[in-house]
Amino acid sequence: NGSVRVNMSNVDSPLQIFVRAKKKINDIFVEIDDYVKDAVTFMHAVSGENGIATPQDVANVESYVSKVQAIREVLKRDHMKVAFFGRTSNGKSTVINAMLHDKILPSGIGHTTNCFLQVEGSDTDEAFLRTEGSEEKLNVQSVSQLGHALCASRLQECSLVHVYWPRELCALLRDDVVLVDSPGVDVTPNLDEWIDKYCLDADVFVLVANAESTLMVTEKNFFHKVSTKISQPNIFILNNRWDASASEPEYLDQVRTQHANRCVDFLSRELRVCTPKEAEERIFFISAKEALLTRLRDRHQPVSSPTLADGHQVRYFEFVDFERKFEECISQSAVRTKFAQHSRRGRNIAADVMAALELVYNTATDQKSAKVEKQRVLHEQLSAIEEQLTTITRQMKDKISRMVESVEHKVSLTL
Ligand code: GTP
Ligand code: MG
Repeated sequence: NGSVRVNMSNVDSPLQIFVRAKKKINDIFVEIDDYVKDAVTFMHAVSGENGIATPQDVANVESYVSKVQAIREVLKRDHMKVAFFGRTSNGKSTVINAMLHDKILPSGIGHTTNCFLQVEGSDTDEAFLRTEGSEEKLNVQSVSQLGHALCASRLQECSLVHVYWPRELCALLRDDVVLVDSPGVDVTPNLDEWIDKYCLDADVFVLVANAESTLMVTEKNFFHKVSTKISQPNIFILNNRWDASASEPEYLDQVRTQHANRCVDFLSRELRVCTPKEAEERIFFISAKEALLTRLRDRHQPVSSPTLADGHQVRYFEFVDFERKFEECISQSAVRTKFAQHSRRGRNIAADVMAALELVYNTATDQKSAKVEKQRVLHEQLSAIEEQLTTITRQMKDKISRMVESVEHKVSLTL
């Protein structure tokens, strides 16, 4: 499909906070796994006839093996998830493509996103699709084919299609970011279902708004619903199509301030998800179309585009700035929400196994001291017997010597 490998070195990407934390917690669980298995071996060794561990003790420790295994499975699959929402044609699919540095998702006229699309890394070199609830992998050779496959499959607007794209082609996918594209929030009455199905585990939400208009009631309503179901959601607002401002430079600052104020107000006072100051860091004026074109050009991909409008570099920098802040936010949030509970459970498991071992240890020491005590008692008894014997012997001796004396006395008298 002509994709060039993206060899961006991403060692100082904020996403590494998550990547490193994930590696570390995975390593810790390998250790916990070893520890639990050692404990099981030990339990077996001290159980059985005349053993110290009861069958329940053994079963108890054994039950942690599968628990640890289950957590390790979840950990392997843990990722950072970002979901994009906004009105139809605001440029959601284009924003995702720009972030992925490639035209992956179909966008534009005739390519309205008609279901949920979840783009995630594939460990193979191939790109493929999988619809929800099916194991069948549909190979995708090209983007246009992806578009056709999606159109042909007549999907329901709230169904989900997984798009697996080779990790090596894209830095975000390589670092375990999963991106979810959605149909326009204005085309559905099922917003609650959307939120319940696709949003509860999202780490970040991006509202793709249209800088040529203002925030719409449908967009606002959607995020009102989100913030009632999720406490303190992380929301970014992209005022997309900001390239349109190039044609009216005299109003640029004024329009920008107006949009920015409304967005700050929406996040801080309406939704109350952050302070006005924090909100300022969550609002960007960008052109996804330009950002995507710039990136395709950088990778020497053929693009059929007119020259970019004035100020495109500034807009591009703002897009890059958004990506940086987004990466910081998503990695921190994912570490907190996903790994905090795993490390808590890991600690509990280690403590429980420790307690089980301690119980056996205590039984063993109890038995040992019981034996020692028995010996002590025995010893005392023996000593008592010994003492008695000594006394008896002494008494006997006395008696005998007295007898001897009296006999001697009698003999002397008779002489
Ligand atoms: P739906 O999937 O239909 O809800 O739309 P969407 O939000 O995914 O929008 P999409 O990315 O398909 O973009 C719609 C059209 O807007 C496409 O033709 C894009 O090329 C164009 N577009 C997207 N971003 C920009 C932008 O920043 N500036 C301009 N001028 N056009 C843009
Ligand atoms: Mg779309």
